[in-house]
This record gives sequence, structure tokens and C-alpha cells, in this order.
Amino acid sequence: MECAARRFKLSGLDEKLSLADFDWRFNPKLPRGACFELHSLKFIAEGNNALLVGKPGTGKSHIAKAVAYQATLQGYDVAYVEADAVMARYALAEPDERARLLKGWVAADLLLLDDLFLARKIGEHAAELLQTLVHQRYKLRRSIVITSNRIVQDWGRYLGDATMATTILDRLMHRCAMLEFEGKSYRLKEASARLVMTSDPT
Ligand SMILES: Nc1ncnc2c1ncn2[C@@H]1O[C@H](COP(=O)(O)OP(=O)(O)OP(=O)(O)O)[C@@H](O)[C@H]1O
Ligand SMILES: [Mg+2]
Repeated sequence: MECAARRFKLSGLDEKLSLADFDWRFNPKLPRGACFELHSLKFIAEGNNALLVGKPGTGKSHIAKAVAYQATLQGYDVAYVEADAVMARYALAEPDERARLLKGWVAADLLLLDDLFLARKIGEHAAELLQTLVHQRYKLRRSIVITSNRIVQDWGRYLGDATMATTILDRLMHRCAMLEFEGKSYRLKEASARLVMTSDPT
């Protein structure tokens, strides 16, 4: 298998998205320049992070996945993690499985934690995992991209521990691009288009 195809397979990404499939007219207030800047992947070479936070359905995961896919094409090892699901799996795993998972997530050049705090509250083990990941990757200067529809100020509540949230955010935000996604949900646009299609009598 070609190297890029292999890196894509190992990344855990479920689709090959690009910025070319993205309609910038739909939500004109999105941070377009900052998205393209991320897509240049300079932040990975510099070991910086990125936080994509904002309203549901505005394209945070789309952009983050496009950046992650681009990284696999450019020779970076990527680990894509659907945050809540994988954290729940981690919490249930045996110790040696946990060690194996953690090793992979620390080793990747880019870690993408997608849809963090979708479930509002994450368990104690998941919170500790997040802390371990952020601390270890910070020491190694390896990039993390996080997408979330929860504002950063509320993370303490979702983590169930304000001090932990502070130590996590402190490291995460030290060298970090903050992208805010304001606008309406593209999912609703797609759903209403389907509705129109199914109710069309012709
Ligand atoms: N401007 C856009 N142009 C084209 N497709 C879009 C656009 N915005 C969103 N989409 C598509 O709409 C769907 C939802 O977007 P996405 O999953 O990126 O939203 P999100 O911001 O991550 O939402 P959530 O906070 O609920 O996770 C995806 O299929 C995505 O590809
Ligand atoms: Mg998302």
C-alpha cells in the first residue's frame, strides 16, 4: 500500500474531506483565513495546537478532518479520536489495552479529538485520560486539534474538576489557534432539502 494510503488507514479517520468541498458562503462569519492557515500544517511543524469551538453543524469537524487528512498526505502520522466514544472505550479497557491506546495517541504527530464534551459530562477515567494526553503531548511539543460545541469556560463543569480543567487548558492554550464557529447548522439545511424532495409531488 502507498504510504499516504497507509497513514490514512492507521489514522482512524472515517472520511477523506477537503476544504474544496466546503461552502464558505453558507456561514460567512466563519474564520476562513485561520482554517486555511491550519490546512497549511505549519502548526504541526511548530508543535502548536488548535481549538475549533462553536455552534453545532457549522463545520468544525469537517475542517478538522480535512486538516487531518491533509496531514496524512503530507507525511504526518495522525490519530483521529471521536472523543466521547473513544474515552468511554478507554475507561472500560483492561490496563494493557489502555497502555497500548495511550501510546498510539501520544506518539502521533497530530492528535485530533473530535466532538469533545458532546456527552456533557465525561467520566473520571476519561478526564484523567484527557489530562494525561494533554500533559504528555505538551512536553513533547506535539500538536492537538480539538473540536467542541462547548465553550471553554464550561469545560471545568464537564470535566467535573475545575483544577484539572485549568491545568489542561493552560497547556493546551499556551500555543494555540482559537477558531470560533458562528452560524447556522448545515445539517438542518440538508434535512430541509430532503424534506422538500420527499414532499415534492412531481
Ligand atoms: N459550510 C459547509 N459546506 C459544506 N458542508 C458543510 C458545511 N458546514 C457543515 N457541512 C457539513 O455538514 C455536516 C455537519 O458539519 P460538522 O460535522 O463539521 O459540524 P460540527 O461543527 O462539527 O457540529 P457539532 O458541533 O454538532 O459536532 C457535515 O456533513 C459537514 O460536512
Ligand atoms: Mg463535530
